Amino acid sequence: MDDDFNTFAGWALFAGIVGLGLTSISSHYFSADKPHRPHHMGYEIEGVEAEAGEEAVPLATLLAEADPARGEAIFAKCMSCHTVDSGGKNGIGPNLHGVVGKPVGEGAGGFVSSSALKDVGGTWTFDQMDAWLKSPKAFASGTKMTFAGLGKPEDRAAMMVYLNAQGSNVPLPAPPAPSAEPVAEGGDEAQAAEGEAAAEGAAAEGAPAEAAPAA
Ligand code: HEC
Repeated sequence: MDDDFNTFAGWALFAGIVGLGLTSISSHYFSADKPHRPHHMGYEIEGVEAEAGEEAVPLATLLAEADPARGEAIFAKCMSCHTVDSGGKNGIGPNLHGVVGKPVGEGAGGFVSSSALKDVGGTWTFDQMDAWLKSPKAFASGTKMTFAGLGKPEDRAAMMVYLNAQGSNVPLPAPPAPSAEPVAEGGDEAQAAEGEAAAEGAAAEGAPAEAAPAA
């Protein structure tokens, strides 16, 4: 009897442990990607569904919708190394006044950029700046800017319109026409649904029409 009880207790315990383990594993597994998902998409763009995903929104559209005040708030992350006011001091990084449109790695007020950054060449267009702010390391491997990057495209766009307003004022790229793909997709679905409804309607109409001559 005792033995049976122990066996039973053993299995019960075992089941409990397995259950706990699975709960823990599955909770880890299912929440694995949660921190990457924004709780709320920063900018709602009419006609574009949230599921459209990050890359689906063109940079020009993000820039057109971007809020410089939000960029200013995000600039707090940069202030340990950068100033942005006209003639501001260089810190660990160069003063960023008027940086949009300037040659990449030009620095400011005697700041010497790394050759890693200078070698990229070109000017700070919005596309270049977007790539830089996403991942400085990926943009200029070996750069002195030890900043991980801004993961959200909306944050980078806000940062750029803010920087642009600090002495650059480069015209923003024209956003693409609002009839972009995500909207067209919805339209197709709607059309498909309409088509089905029409087909059903036709079938329903068809029946009495066929019946009529017979009557
Ligand atoms: C830990 C310090 C640090 C932080 C934080 C930092 N930067 Fe930098 N930044 C640097 C350094 C250092 C350089 C020079 C890089 C080089 O020469 O390789 C630089 C360079 C730059 C440049 C290029 C300037 C030029 O002359 O071409 C831009 C633009 C820039 N940073 C923007 C930003 C923005 C925007 C943020 C905040 C989102 C930021 N940085 C955060 C240190 C930093």
